[in-house]
Amino acid sequence: MKVLLSGAGGQLGQALIASAPKGLELVATSRQELDLADPEACRSAVEHHQPDWVLNAGAYTAVDKAEAEPELAYAVNARAPEAFARALDEQGGRLLQISTDFVFNGTQGTPYQPEQARDPLGVYGASKAAGEAALQNVFGAEGRGLILRTSWVIGPVGSNFALTMLRLHRERNQLGVVADQVGCPTSTLNLAMACWRSLEVAAESELPAVMHWSDAGAASWYDVAVAVGRIGAELGLIDTPAEVQPITTADYPTPAERPAYSLLDCTSTRAALELHGEHWQQALKAVLQQAKTP
Ligand SMILES: NC(=O)c1ccc[n+]([C@@H]2O[C@H](COP(=O)([O-])OP(=O)(O)OC[C@H]3O[C@@H](n4cnc5c(N)ncnc54)[C@H](OP(=O)(O)O)[C@@H]3O)[C@@H](O)[C@H]2O)c1
Repeated sequence: MKVLLSGAGGQLGQALIASAPKGLELVATSRQELDLADPEACRSAVEHHQPDWVLNAGAYTAVDKAEAEPELAYAVNARAPEAFARALDEQGGRLLQISTDFVFNGTQGTPYQPEQARDPLGVYGASKAAGEAALQNVFGAEGRGLILRTSWVIGPVGSNFALTMLRLHRERNQLGVVADQVGCPTSTLNLAMACWRSLEVAAESELPAVMHWSDAGAASWYDVAVAVGRIGAELGLIDTPAEVQPITTADYPTPAERPAYSLLDCTSTRAALELHGEHWQQALKAVLQQAKTP
């Protein structure tokens, strides 16, 4: 099986490369090798490599910056998956598109099911939602395009909330962290496993066209910040954790509005992939154990 991976330098991309199944031919492309803002480059990469799958892990992920750069966000998050889908539709390959809990508005207060309607709040979520819709338009009911939504991605490398909190626990005595946004962290280690498992299962049976994958449980950003301090100290990565104060979204205004409650119901995906969820605190510990200390 040949897989063309985008976003090789991102936190998920690096976890996918590190955990790629043996015997799989992986063509991992960074931004320099494949610019997702260029639909023609996406099309010609498919034509050139003739992959069985495109695993589109690359994305414009700067949620706040996207408010000021909608054209670039849409090019990368909507037109690139569309270009991959069109090229694969001509050639016969398949697409695994990584998407986000931010396609939902976060107002319902109960976990989101994969088949629920999209209703994003900001440019980032809207651009990812447009990418989902584009690949569904191209592939129709054929099932050759799979969407795997995830949330609050954290890994031992790259830029993410857990590593930022680890640094702030070292640098400060006190932190204020938003406590009224609820979701669930997802470790890149577990997310990469779910991606590779999706390709494996899809070779033998039909998977749901839209799947949800996060680690198990639920948390606010405040809960995650407290857990980073506790686990970081346990692992000897922090001398003394900072005191973390819960604050509200109103106390910490950001350019992009974020969903207040974006928990993804992963039950059907875990069953389809025959994978158990790992509690987010366990998964966080594994991430921090692998994080390089400065
Ligand atoms: N991070 C989260 O909390 C989160 C939550 C839900 C869903 N997701 C989704 O999960 C997937 C993986 O995200 P991640 O956390 O691994 O993000 P990440 O660490 O920000 O990685 C994104 C990757 O995309 C690449 N990229 C951005 N613009 C590009 C372009 N024009 N051409 C080629 N590559 C480009 C980046 O390249 P550079 O390395 O050169 O910048 C980077 O390697 C994405 O689909 C994202 O939408 C993420």
